[in-house]
Amino acid sequence: MFACYRCPALCASRKQIVLPDVSDAMLHLPLLVIGEAPGADEDVQGRGFVGRAGRTLHRLLESFGLVRWYQYGCANIVRCRPEGNRRPTAEEIWNCGDFLLETLERSEPEAILLVGGTATSVFCGSGPLHTHIVDLRRGDHQLNLDLCHPRLKPFFEQRAVRVFAIPHTSPLSWNRNAPDGRKWSEWAKEEVRVLSAVFAKR
Ligand code: URA
Repeated sequence: MFACYRCPALCASRKQIVLPDVSDAMLHLPLLVIGEAPGADEDVQGRGFVGRAGRTLHRLLESFGLVRWYQYGCANIVRCRPEGNRRPTAEEIWNCGDFLLETLERSEPEAILLVGGTATSVFCGSGPLHTHIVDLRRGDHQLNLDLCHPRLKPFFEQRAVRVFAIPHTSPLSWNRNAPDGRKWSEWAKEEVRVLSAVFAKR
């Protein structure tokens, strides 16, 4: 059984540790979705992306032919729910980083979908989400390794995994306008459309 006591605040706030879908070595899926942290529903059920944000995410991906446990699995930057859904701290992200690296190495995804600004900043560095989305598009969805979190960099140094980013699917971000005046949900649809085309060509 997986146990961890590295982050005192997360040990106090979590009900349980939420493992990634791909913790089962038999499950090799071409796409790994990575969010920020478990929310209240995930904390209770012990599985990632099962609450409202998760349902919005799965509906979006399914509308482009991508189905959980068939084409993709889900993980989070940190495995424990932070109190009141606050963002995980840099130290918590660091502490959980080698578990995420292990998840990446075990699942060997062909593509990664980052959900939300926090997850995206761990892989793409600080800065606004929309600029990261645009930069990833321009760079043919390859990470700039100088900006990637040092704990995760080793994975990308040896592979050309394509990385996509979308806004968080929680109702708060989803229905907001992006800086170009369009809804964030429109940005997400556009990215997932391109992502699904990667798999359609195989
Ligand atoms: N939001 C996330 O980023 N991850 C989850 O697992 C659920 C909601």
